[in-house]
Amino acid sequence: MKRDFIDLWNLDPEEGWYIVKRTREVKEGREELSKILDKKHLALLFTKPSTRTRVSFEVAIGELGGRSMFLQETQLQISRGEDVRDTARTLSRYVDGVIVRNHSHAWLEEFSKWAEVPVINALTDKSHPCQLLSDVFTLYERFGEDTKRLKIAYVGDGNNVCNTWLVAAGLFGLNLFVGTPEDYGPDSYYLQAGLDLCNFTGGSIYLTTNPVEAVKDADVVYTDVWVSMGDENREEKLEALKPYQVNEELLSHAKPDVVVMHCLPAKKGQEITEEVFEKFADFIFTQAENRLHTQKVLLEFLFRNT
Ligand code: CP
Ligand code: NVA
Repeated sequence: MKRDFIDLWNLDPEEGWYIVKRTREVKEGREELSKILDKKHLALLFTKPSTRTRVSFEVAIGELGGRSMFLQETQLQISRGEDVRDTARTLSRYVDGVIVRNHSHAWLEEFSKWAEVPVINALTDKSHPCQLLSDVFTLYERFGEDTKRLKIAYVGDGNNVCNTWLVAAGLFGLNLFVGTPEDYGPDSYYLQAGLDLCNFTGGSIYLTTNPVEAVKDADVVYTDVWVSMGDENREEKLEALKPYQVNEELLSHAKPDVVVMHCLPAKKGQEITEEVFEKFADFIFTQAENRLHTQKVLLEFLFRNT
């Protein structure tokens, strides 16, 4: 049976940790990856811009022996209204897997239902599972088995990345505090999914509208842009988010050895100051690098039975 990766809950906790731990072994050269994508073609169907996700996937596919093909929506018949079901069925006859970045999560779910090959979510308006899989690996690489004991604070907009953090906390049994404004909190469906998983894994999720409470004594502070791709740049939203900016003052409430993460791209001066960004730049770019390492292992995992 084909394995899709649309949301983190498509993995069980054991599989999630398997990918994270194997990524460390592969990155550090103790284990090797097979050429599992030999003679396979994977399409990347993107309707939004991307630097990290596109490039890291194309390199990962090449390193696994496969070939990638970048498809822009504007050059496909879906831009003229071709049915999602027909696009999915057609591509399934040509390629061995499709990696999709699209605004509507519902569109992606419909696409994956009709595709006969594995489908990977490369970001939608609701979730960004490849990002979080990689971010958990970045924490594991730095903190090892202590990862589950860290206080992780996400502050800012309750967007696709925030939603996926909730599920990551549940899947990996992490200790997550989320600080967002009242009107810009995460999606309740993702919150419930995260809480349900926490019952099995011992993770915990705490939501607050107070950014200081969220970051108090945190080991990790994570943020993302206030205006996501496809969102309106509304003044009232930016105003509401101002107290959630990751700056020196906010970080003074975290542990002295706190680390800051950002999925990138960053809008310096909004969700994070340039000063804080540069202070943690090495860790943030390791976080970006790790997209490549994690996705190689994810592809190997999804394609091992195809
Ligand atoms: N973090 C991330 O997904 O970056 P891109 O939008 O550049 O792919
Ligand atoms: N929330 C951001 C993430 C970018 C990787 C967006 O959707 O634009």
